[in-house]
Amino acid sequence: MIQAHDKPLPQHLAFIMDGNGRWAQDRGLSRSAGHRAGAERLRDVCYWVLDYGICHMSVYAFSTENWRRSTQEVNGLMRLIPDFFHRYAAEMRDQGARIHFVGDLDQLPAATQKIIGQIQANPPETHKLDLYICLNYGGRREIVRAVQKALRSPDPLALADQLDEDSFRNFLYQPQMPDPDLIVRTAGEQRLSNFWLWQAAYAELYFSPVYWPDFGQADLAQALDAYSLRQRRYGGEKSDNTHP
Ligand code: IPE
Ligand code: IPE
Ligand code: MG
Repeated sequence: MIQAHDKPLPQHLAFIMDGNGRWAQDRGLSRSAGHRAGAERLRDVCYWVLDYGICHMSVYAFSTENWRRSTQEVNGLMRLIPDFFHRYAAEMRDQGARIHFVGDLDQLPAATQKIIGQIQANPPETHKLDLYICLNYGGRREIVRAVQKALRSPDPLALADQLDEDSFRNFLYQPQMPDPDLIVRTAGEQRLSNFWLWQAAYAELYFSPVYWPDFGQADLAQALDAYSLRQRRYGGEKSDNTHP
């Protein structure tokens, strides 16, 4: 059921799902328990976003810098990913979510790569939402990878003359993905932490104090209401809420 919503909605809504650790700490639980609660919340948010009729959603699930955490926490996160998708991938597919994984996936454990391969090989016949899950993703890494791909083209010198901002997109992980219109970061921190650096050029940013596992339907509505009031000018004079 699509919710009635007369205000401008983002075409692409992105989340930096932060605060799982603090959520767990407040409850005397392990950080891994916080990540499990965060994963359950991701499933809920995905369905709420589908209800709004938003077509693209991305989430920052594991950054290229998150390997700096303890082995115990990293291992817990790496186990959680296949566990989560074994439980919910079919259901999410039935609800119309086409899932894409974005990042340096070949560095992920074999079990994670296996389920990623299965999910991406079986997209829903018709989909309502493209869901991009950023795993071992870093914006700087993505840009460096893009330059490497460009340099490996058959005629790099000819490419150098032709390359512009539009054609450079073809070397990014998801060339077809529209840029995020709204990036929501939970848990109070006001930074991008290396998320969508290229694509975030004109994204609206929204910071919620709520920890990700507690981020509820009302919090989402508040973020979308705030977005609908933003004046997007893209460097011009007049506000333009259409997508460039
Ligand atoms: C975000 O929650 C999830 C990941 C980075 C994987 P955190 O684990 O960063 O939670 P805090 O910021 O420590 O509370
Ligand atoms: C950003 O959160 C990464 C993810 C949500 C996956 P972090 O918790 O890793 O970011 P910093 O370290 O506070 O900047
Ligand atoms: Mg954090």
